[in-house]
Amino acid sequence: MNIELIRRDFPILETKVNEHQVVYFDNAATTQRPLPVIQAVTDYLMHGNGNPHRGAHVFAVHASEVYDTSKNVVKNFIGARSAKEIIYTRNTSESLNLVARSYGETHLKKGDKILITIGEHHSNLVPWQRAAEKTGAVLEYIYVDKETGHFIEEDLKKIDDPQVKIFAFAQVSNVLGVKFDAKALIERAHAHGAVVVLDGAQSTPHMKINVQDLDCDFFAFSGHKLCSVGGIGVLYGKEEILSEMEPFLLGGDMIDTVEEQKTVYADLPAKFEAGTQYVEGAVGLVAAIQYISSIGFDSIRQQEKILVTHALEKLKELPFIHIVGSKNPDEKEGLISFTVEDVHPHDVAQILSEDGICIRTGHHCAEPLHRYLGINATCRASFYFYNTVDEVDYFIERLKHVRQVMGYTAS
Ligand SMILES: Cc1ncc(COP(=O)(O)O)c(C=O)c1O
Repeated sequence: MNIELIRRDFPILETKVNEHQVVYFDNAATTQRPLPVIQAVTDYLMHGNGNPHRGAHVFAVHASEVYDTSKNVVKNFIGARSAKEIIYTRNTSESLNLVARSYGETHLKKGDKILITIGEHHSNLVPWQRAAEKTGAVLEYIYVDKETGHFIEEDLKKIDDPQVKIFAFAQVSNVLGVKFDAKALIERAHAHGAVVVLDGAQSTPHMKINVQDLDCDFFAFSGHKLCSVGGIGVLYGKEEILSEMEPFLLGGDMIDTVEEQKTVYADLPAKFEAGTQYVEGAVGLVAAIQYISSIGFDSIRQQEKILVTHALEKLKELPFIHIVGSKNPDEKEGLISFTVEDVHPHDVAQILSEDGICIRTGHHCAEPLHRYLGINATCRASFYFYNTVDEVDYFIERLKHVRQVMGYTAS
């Protein structure tokens, strides 16, 4: 993989901040968009924009074709059985809300259990809290080992409880960076018929996903975390489950027939896609999938491994840095969360920003995890295939400067 060549596809990486070339290490929040994605969306808007599934004119027909074919691209990308199993949403959050509302709130009953993990992003936590409140189900957590970030073995037994009707977890943690053995966990939950919801927001950008092989019942991810334009997300669901679910939103395009007092819903996936759809988002998503596929997950993972290994080595040499979770590069999927002794994470981010370095700080929408770990906030550097070892070195250098600015030694 020629990184210099790849970086030319991302004009935003040329941005200068105070004379410093920007270093973008906030990829777990959102990735940058390459020229082929920008171009594909621009072309669609300049030459082919229409409202899909409505009208017989050239643009409406084109929009319908573009939209419908995009589903096949996504289907192949995540290994779904049928394009009917691919529903577009705005993002992972909306996908997970759809499941919690349309499946959780209609299938759970008093005394049932929803099992999630303490590491969940709020979008895979808050919707389940409400599902529990509405149905009388109980929300239970699997906890992680504070040192390694792995699930506590004893806690995994909670999965075997036949009262657990829904098990929802992220394949990769957005704070700890650890990847869980989703396939084994799914099999364990299926042993007693629980439905499994997999949050793929942080896994889909970094590894080949095959939902049939994983055998998850639902899978959610966001386009913007894998180089697509924002505002488009995906919910995969097994056809047999989606077919019997109630739609989340009602209105145009999701119907078969409407009478004064009664509506027959459209077939999948339209049943879950009310209103005019975001065709330019679908165009951007397809272009992003094609772009990422042309680079290949082997190369992507290889570069991320180089960056994470180098960054961890260098961070470990700094006595004022505390890494959150495992310090093993094999257990970090492209991101490292850490704290700087005596310096608030927001100050770290602010000072680094003056040097053009973009990292994320706060609780990363995982407040219960931070509370459990006994930390208010952390800093997070997250990499993607267009980042370089030189950028990591510059970041490490400027971290020492952060300590000095705050009046402490850098050694
Ligand atoms: C693990 C995880 N789940 C869900 C989300 C929510 O994604 P979005 O903001 O695109 O809905 C994120 C976003 O960072 C995430 O990291």
